[in-house]
Amino acid sequence: MNSLKHKIIINKINQLRKQKNAIILAHYYQEPEIQDIADFIGDSLALAQKAVQVNADIIILAGVYFMAETAKIINPSKKVLIPDINAGCSLAASCPPDKFKMFKSAHPDHIVVSYVNTSAEIKALTDIVCTSSNAVQIIQSLPKDQKIIFAPDKNLGNYINNLTNRNMILWDGACHVHEEFSLEKLIDLKKQYPEAKIIAHPECKKPILLVSDFIGSTSHLLNFVQKSNADIFIVVTESGIIHQMKKSNPSKTFIPAPPIDSTCGCNDCNYMKLITLNKIYSCLEDESPEIIMDNELIASASKSIFRMLDISKQLGI
Ligand code: 13P
Ligand code: SF4
Repeated sequence: MNSLKHKIIINKINQLRKQKNAIILAHYYQEPEIQDIADFIGDSLALAQKAVQVNADIIILAGVYFMAETAKIINPSKKVLIPDINAGCSLAASCPPDKFKMFKSAHPDHIVVSYVNTSAEIKALTDIVCTSSNAVQIIQSLPKDQKIIFAPDKNLGNYINNLTNRNMILWDGACHVHEEFSLEKLIDLKKQYPEAKIIAHPECKKPILLVSDFIGSTSHLLNFVQKSNADIFIVVTESGIIHQMKKSNPSKTFIPAPPIDSTCGCNDCNYMKLITLNKIYSCLEDESPEIIMDNELIASASKSIFRMLDISKQLGI
């Protein structure tokens, strides 16, 4: 988009959001131009915490479907819009509710902790939701002998099992972006930049996490680069986060970690990148696509999300 068209669309969005009392919440993996116009940018936990407090009439969730659905579940009186209804999540899709229900019934003495990257139906089958910002503390807050099913991300689940010395049963799900990083290329890159710190999201596979200097959620990665004395970072997560890293650390260098097949651009989440400024404008204008949910599903899915929000509050996260 040329700069004049860009300015025009931003002006139109600004007028409409004021007129309709709408707020734009964006995830760190969004395109830089979307992050720059958002009223609030955050990781999955911060977006959920913000969605509870919003007093605007309309919430536009510039992110993926489960994020907009979560906002609707915790603030059902608001109109929640998502600029592209096809902005799904491969991790959420890796856990179909019918199969998960059978898995859960096979382990009746276990409680279910699910990552927020799930459908509302899975949240309704869950005791406590978590995000990558609070997963470790939420698991640590449970009694040592508590039997736990962790879903859907097996990489995050493995990482928590190792850190907390637990033996949670893991659902076999994963994110296509985080599974695609190449260990071989990462090691080559580290040889080129031996002083660089490797920082990774816990959705990456174990070998990647083993060579990383720091592991954390998107907001934890951002905090780390801000506090670190290092000047160069190899970033092993979706490349959208690099925009905020550069903004708050202009003198530091951030290198996106390479995926196995660099021609497919796999370190971009194709779902996150479906959201554009034009789609934000038309969704504000048409007030569509809107997240519409059954009240019963909202009620049953909300319990596990509020439990996460309560525990996070108690733990000061
Ligand atoms: P964060 O909660 O760390 O922002 O992660 C969200 C996500 O979708 C990771 O792929
Ligand atoms: Fe889902 Fe992966 Fe995209 Fe995150 S990066 S939204 S986990 S597909």
